[in-house]
Amino acid sequence: MNISFPSNPGPLLLLIAGAKGAVASTVAVAVLALQRDPESILSSLTTADKFPYLGPPQAFQMVGWDQTQKTLVESIEDHGVLPERLWKPYQFELGQITIREAPAPDLDFRATVERLRDDIRVFGDLFPQARPVFVNLLPAALRTNPSGCQSLSELYKKRKIPEPVDVAYAAAAVLSGVPVVNFTPNEIEIPPLLQEAEERGVPIAGRDGKTGQTYLKVVLASALKARRLFVDGWYSLNILGNADGKNLVEPGKAEGKLMNKTEILDEILGYPVGERYPAASHKVHIDYYPPRGDAKEAWDVIDFLGLFGLPMSLRLNLQGRDSILAAPLVLDLARWMAALQQAGKSGLVPELGFYFKKPLGENPPLTFEDQLVSLRILEESCNRILAPQPSSTPSGPMRSPT
Ligand SMILES: NC(=O)c1ccc[n+]([C@@H]2O[C@H](COP(=O)([O-])OP(=O)(O)OC[C@H]3O[C@@H](n4cnc5c(N)ncnc54)[C@H](O)[C@@H]3O)[C@@H](O)[C@H]2O)c1
Repeated sequence: MNISFPSNPGPLLLLIAGAKGAVASTVAVAVLALQRDPESILSSLTTADKFPYLGPPQAFQMVGWDQTQKTLVESIEDHGVLPERLWKPYQFELGQITIREAPAPDLDFRATVERLRDDIRVFGDLFPQARPVFVNLLPAALRTNPSGCQSLSELYKKRKIPEPVDVAYAAAAVLSGVPVVNFTPNEIEIPPLLQEAEERGVPIAGRDGKTGQTYLKVVLASALKARRLFVDGWYSLNILGNADGKNLVEPGKAEGKLMNKTEILDEILGYPVGERYPAASHKVHIDYYPPRGDAKEAWDVIDFLGLFGLPMSLRLNLQGRDSILAAPLVLDLARWMAALQQAGKSGLVPELGFYFKKPLGENPPLTFEDQLVSLRILEESCNRILAPQPSSTPSGPMRSPT
């Protein structure tokens, strides 16, 4: 049974797995800053002026889970994403955020899901007026072959967790009627979960937040395509020194992210880049480089051909900040999910491709232009249902594209 959460505008409640990580702890400070100094954060959100029926855009609360024993404040200090002057004013409130211990790794799948569902009930009791959205911010996991189970009861029969633990978190959210944002590269969108989500009116958005280098890759690839400039090769290098970068040193854990970062280019352009060469000419590397911490750097070398096949080349150097780019997107996605659920949308939401490296669902928009158009159409369809204009014709709940 879904937990009954109020449909009146109340705050959005972020339920975050990995709540003390670099991105989530930045979100925590942003949530508190929204309460005291909203403009400082709202100016960075893509949704601040959307969805008036959700209530004020600054109304957020956060809870979550983590496996580290460190406090949230200690984690913020360790990640070094934010200078002290930005988080110190909220030190007391940060200590009040409820972050539950992650379920023990030796629990089986069913017990893990049940434990997490209990937690979600407790979170609901803590914030009875709030509308919850689950956000997966767990570390990148080893790629597994999805189990092939067709139903949750089949998955329950497995003694051990068959997929990354993220699946158990997502299952607990779906079974509680809570929308899911999968910001990680981990594959959680398995058939039994999608089926449950469709049946319970739960939207799922993912996968792998598109924050820096890949965001600009989509923009540039779309621009080159629009001018019929032929991309002959694209070399992308990233260095980063945060926990995510350290984790991605393990090839099995980087595999999903590298695939997401690589496949997207051919999909946008509509041809395989470098097919005339004996080896791939779209290359993506991620390297762990401790001195940089969260302040990552990315280089792109783009070789392209113009009239008469004459070669040209472009260099892009992004000196970004991983969690600073990611945190506002998490807040935006939570607002989208609350609006979509209220509008009756369930299952995968390919129209949110703007926000993801690996947009899931049928026919996600690929070029930058198409992604912006999709967002606008999606917003308009929410508005038609949730804030009907006097002249507009009434319409039923939204359906996924067929
Ligand atoms: N920052 C970005 O720009 C960006 C972009 C796209 C995707 N992502 C993805 O977002 C995710 C989070 O990134 P991050 O930089 O915050 O990572 P992080 O390593 O700093 O944080 C992960 C957190 O998860 C916790 N954790 C580990 N196992 C857990 C479990 N079983 N239950 C609960 N908590 C657990 C860890 O203790 C840690 O606090 C990663 O998967 C990353 O690849 C980040």
